[in-house]
Amino acid sequence: MPGSFNYDDLFSADSQDTPLKVVTHAEYDFAVAYPAPETLPVDGLTQALQVMLDTRAEDLARNLAYYPHVQGSPELREFTAGKLLSDRGISVSPDEIMLTAGSGEAIGLVIQALTNPGDTVLTERYVYTGTLNQLQRFGADVVGAPIDDMGIMPEALDRLIDELAEDGRRPKYLYTIAEHQNPTGSTLPEARRRQILDIAHRRNMPIIEDECYVDLRFEGETQPAFRTLDDSGIVIHVASYSKLVAPGLRLGFFTAQDDVMRRASSFKIGSGPNQFSAYAVEGFLRENLDRHRAALNPLLREKRDAMIASLEENFAGTGATWSRPQGGCYVWLTMPEKADLGAVQQGCMDGGVGYVAGPAFAPNNDGAHCARLCFAFETPEKNRKGIARLAELFDDMGVLSGTASV
Ligand SMILES: Cc1ncc(COP(=O)(O)O)c(C=O)c1O
Repeated sequence: MPGSFNYDDLFSADSQDTPLKVVTHAEYDFAVAYPAPETLPVDGLTQALQVMLDTRAEDLARNLAYYPHVQGSPELREFTAGKLLSDRGISVSPDEIMLTAGSGEAIGLVIQALTNPGDTVLTERYVYTGTLNQLQRFGADVVGAPIDDMGIMPEALDRLIDELAEDGRRPKYLYTIAEHQNPTGSTLPEARRRQILDIAHRRNMPIIEDECYVDLRFEGETQPAFRTLDDSGIVIHVASYSKLVAPGLRLGFFTAQDDVMRRASSFKIGSGPNQFSAYAVEGFLRENLDRHRAALNPLLREKRDAMIASLEENFAGTGATWSRPQGGCYVWLTMPEKADLGAVQQGCMDGGVGYVAGPAFAPNNDGAHCARLCFAFETPEKNRKGIARLAELFDDMGVLSGTASV
């Protein structure tokens, strides 16, 4: 609302002038971060609510009449504890789980519990923008750890910590997305996880593991979670129902040792997350978890294959490389260093193809020759056509010819 009241001297010192973003979708939208609307189990969610109404109408009414427990719906926490045990071998009770309004909230609560302005925090070299923004918002000095196509390289991580120490900087914790990383799509092998756990213990450095995409595997073996390999309390485990069910339901969760839960909880504003969403997700997944994954993941594989086939067809000989994720939503495109995909991002959007250039994921704002391409949202056909269009746009804008000589 345009207004003329003068707030200039009234804003809090910590507030930042943040543009209220308008979401626009390109014709070929590879910039988004979620699966396609047509794969959302709308009928299943509605049926789950109907069953609840038919069988437990009084419970439903009573629970909706009260503010939810600060840790969220006991039924969904109980389901989540069972899922963590059967999927990940993580043994926690429902009382050790806090449901949140998406895992973004969980990450924010944990960051606030652990971070003082100026603290050094490690992440992958390229990392989910939402976490990067929250870390920077709460004053962390974020340092990206070296990665290859399997994720963080443990020896290089150890060396990095030594180098930081020479500079008087001691990393306080590591945040990592080890399964189907956002944005690179990599999965960290078990052996590396064990090495990183050794480093974490030696360096007295907790690990926040974000398993946002763990359910979306369509190829290869799921690796054991850090939390599966270590129950000493050094691992804080975060995950989400956004990518498995629907982001609009806003349900995520985390589990950590008691004192971390209590400190994180101190930053919680209001009560637990939406009870109606929790009933829908719990009712739906209790009956359909395996069936739903078995329906969703082959579609994702088809979409990945289409995108990769089109990259092979249209980007061969340009010096570009791309990741081949075994699940999740993203292919990571790396052009020769001279290419500036940030500079042409808006032009490509106007020309019909959306993507997110590397700097959005980089603690140092570099990586302009890289881009995240979400393969999960568009159809296989649109993935094929959109990548062909992207090659044409890059060509028209001189991205390819500018790099051909590299
Ligand atoms: C790695 C990762 N973690 C967390 C989130 C936050 O998701 P949500 O808050 O919807 O659970 C996202 C969203 O894209 C993500 O990619």
